[in-house]
Amino acid sequence: MARIEMQGLVKTYGSETVVDGIDLTIDDGELVVLLGPSGCGKTTTLRMVAGLEQITGGELRFDGEVVNHEPPDRRAVGMVFQNYALYPHMTVAGNLSFGLQSRRPRGSRRKARADERRRVQEIAELLEIDHVLDHRPKELSGGQRQRVALGRALIREPRVFLLDEPLSNLDASLRDRMRMELARLHERLPVTTVYVTHDQSEALTLADRVVVMHEGRIRQVAAPGDVYDRPADVFVAGFIGSPGMNLWPRAAAGDGDPFGDAAPGVELPRDAGGAPWSDGRAVTVGVRPEHLRLAGRHQDDLARVSCRVDVVENLGSHLLVHGSLPCGGGVVAHLQAGAGVVRDQDLVLGALPEHVHVFDTGTGERLGTVADRERIAVTV
Ligand SMILES: Nc1ncnc2c1ncn2[C@@H]1O[C@H](COP(=O)(O)OP(=O)(O)O)[C@@H](O)[C@H]1O
Ligand SMILES: [Mg+2]
Repeated sequence: MARIEMQGLVKTYGSETVVDGIDLTIDDGELVVLLGPSGCGKTTTLRMVAGLEQITGGELRFDGEVVNHEPPDRRAVGMVFQNYALYPHMTVAGNLSFGLQSRRPRGSRRKARADERRRVQEIAELLEIDHVLDHRPKELSGGQRQRVALGRALIREPRVFLLDEPLSNLDASLRDRMRMELARLHERLPVTTVYVTHDQSEALTLADRVVVMHEGRIRQVAAPGDVYDRPADVFVAGFIGSPGMNLWPRAAAGDGDPFGDAAPGVELPRDAGGAPWSDGRAVTVGVRPEHLRLAGRHQDDLARVSCRVDVVENLGSHLLVHGSLPCGGGVVAHLQAGAGVVRDQDLVLGALPEHVHVFDTGTGERLGTVADRERIAVTV
């Protein structure tokens, strides 16, 4: 196993910079997920770690040793791609041991073969495919094939395990199951792992830490709960959650109105007016759909959003209500199934002060919540 350090890692293709200075340290045995929209540079970053892509700038170290110019096999990484192709004409056992054969030492062939069989058996038991060792890939289920691909990478006892969207070819229910199996596998075999996905539920359930990327850069590195509760900026706030956070930019504050334009449909709680962070900068207010509920117009202990309902999506367990604010802009609220909300209805939605996030509109940086005065005071 290894500790991975990326320092100012850059990748350019011609004049285009696709990875733009990644600084990240991954501890021995840690599982880190690179999460971000398609095209943000996740795969390129992973391929640089694997040695499959030349590093344009910066330094990559495994256990303190610079590996920028080490070929992939010297780095001892195990990798599973989205399109993991198994060898169709080989059995499962053959597929698993294929990577080992190049490493078979000269001399004592018989002992090497016995070792190899033992390793195949061990890894097959770990992944619960020991009963299909004689089968060929086409005779396996999707989940079993996926496990063979994992086993083929793990059997070489890699220092670093790299996975690039390994579940995206599976159907939804199988994907959920494999996700839990991967979590269990990592507990039993805690190899330093970098896992790439654009699927936030995979990231949030699997990761020790989530690295949110956007346009070749890191936007936030945090525990899964923290990227949800304390998104670093408006990009992360809008990207995490399904749907993401509602964001309402407000005009710059004026005298006597520390929150800027007095509520284009969004009123802040009564107490928030005296918040010491209102220093005249323009702020953006954000509330997650699931933190909104039906409220009274005069319930001034809550932040309130007035809207007209455009669409009600009934998702069985809950409603997803899409509304328009009086002066433009929209809102999405996650309400109880029995809320009885209908199209064209005028609604007032409310959120508790601790669920009302405030961002600096200029930089996008999150300042805190309306309930979170002290921290915000320090920030400003
Ligand atoms: N070999 C290449 N040549 C030129 N551009 C590339 C190459 N590989 C990737 N890119 C570009 O780099 C960007 C990041 O790609 P990638 O790392 O695959 O993103 P992700 O995995 O996050 O979807 C994309 O804009 C992609 O088009
Ligand atoms: Mg990719």
